[in-house]
Amino acid sequence: MADSREAIDGAMIGARMPAVKTPAPRKGVAMEAVNLEEKFNQISDHWKPRIVAGLNDLHIKLAKVEGEFVWHSHADTDEFFLVNRGELTIEMREGSVTLGAGEMFVVPRGVEHRPVASAECEIVMIEPAGTLNTGDAGGERTVADPEWL
Ligand code: NI
Repeated sequence: MADSREAIDGAMIGARMPAVKTPAPRKGVAMEAVNLEEKFNQISDHWKPRIVAGLNDLHIKLAKVEGEFVWHSHADTDEFFLVNRGELTIEMREGSVTLGAGEMFVVPRGVEHRPVASAECEIVMIEPAGTLNTGDAGGERTVADPEWL
């Protein structure tokens, strides 16, 4: 009952709200579908994220990964992972989470993690623009300014 009451209240609130305006297209971004397979086909290296879309202050990134990354954490942001192909294990001090294709996980901010893939794996990440792939760890695998695909 509580749920349906909330749904009705929500609908009434929505009815009083002005129509949402369609946002203007971002400059330089084509108004067309992003085909993940086509984007992943343009990536041949590992652990080097590319940006494929912006979402408010977030970037949606793609990467191919294989082997072990570095332990790191992001003090100020959660980090979204979705596996498109293959299998990714996100090691954390508290325990590991293994994702297969079509599975997702959010690493909470501040939680130390290390992505590991025993074979090549395609991942989608969502995180605030400017988030470093190596977080607080830094080092040679840091991609400070990911390219757009
Ligand atoms: Ni991370």
